[in-house]
Amino acid sequence: MGPKYLQQKKSLRPSKRYIQSRLQIGGSHSNKLIKCQKCDMTYSPNNIDDTTAHKAFHETYLKGKKWSKNWGITVYATLNQLTPPPSQNLQNDRIVMVRPDHQPEVNATLEVMNIVNNELHAPQDENDFWLDEHSNGKAFLYIKDDRAVGAVTIEPLKQGRGRWMIYDSKKLVSNVIPNFEIGISRIWVCKSQRGKNIASKLLEASRFNTTTRNVLPKSSIAWSQPTDDGGKLALKYNSVRHKSGKILLPCYI
Ligand SMILES: CC(C)(COP(=O)(O)OP(=O)(O)OC[C@H]1O[C@@H](n2cnc3c(N)ncnc32)[C@H](O)[C@@H]1OP(=O)(O)O)[C@@H](O)C(=O)NCCC(=O)NCCS
Ligand SMILES: [Zn+2]
Repeated sequence: MGPKYLQQKKSLRPSKRYIQSRLQIGGSHSNKLIKCQKCDMTYSPNNIDDTTAHKAFHETYLKGKKWSKNWGITVYATLNQLTPPPSQNLQNDRIVMVRPDHQPEVNATLEVMNIVNNELHAPQDENDFWLDEHSNGKAFLYIKDDRAVGAVTIEPLKQGRGRWMIYDSKKLVSNVIPNFEIGISRIWVCKSQRGKNIASKLLEASRFNTTTRNVLPKSSIAWSQPTDDGGKLALKYNSVRHKSGKILLPCYI
């Protein structure tokens, strides 16, 4: 994520588009805007385009995106244990890896990423590493009851991008450039499914399936300037305690 997130923050608000459509209808009543308390979207309840757009955004934001059974390769069919290879499908939950040459699942994933980036105020154009078959990045989705309720996108990291972040102050440690193998570009779970270990399972799926070589150790995974929630997840997942006593998160820029 990094500082560029902040620069683009304004233009990425979901409300902007809808404010424009509202202006096409005159009259003081129709100009009234409301902000949905659940999904934070601002829209005009009197404008049909706005209400339709809000409904779609609201549903995906809270409950995830409808997902076809044919989309993606299942990497974990049994999520009680995260030990590959997957055996039989004992639950309704699974994790899929997106195939860049399968357009319907790519399009559906981009729709999910649109919601993710809106929530994170993140740029919408950082998908090349998993869209391009030769870039070695990956997108994984957590599917539950035929909905994509969580997503993670992973990018390979070149040397020089790794940093340690001090958890308390959120400052990067200067003059130390650690090597991390892969970076978590985005990680997201829809509102209604948080706190159920879904993000943790997506991280484990990434660790087992991003490179064709060995399973990656947790210590080789870095975070792209984490949010507050992301920081708490990172703290649990792969933070380290420095000899000074400070907690460090593996990050990248
Ligand atoms: C961050 C996010 C992906 C976590 O998803 P999740 O499925 O709820 O996370 P998990 O249930 O796997 O959490 C695992 C552990 O991480 C920690 N954790 C994660 N989110 C936390 C939170 N909001 N508050 C406190 N601890 C949290 C906890 O220790 C938790 O384990 P525990 O429940 O046994 O204590 C989710 O909150 C989210 O989508 N947030 C909005 C998008 C975002 O900020 N993404 C991070 C970008 S860096
Ligand atoms: Zn809403």
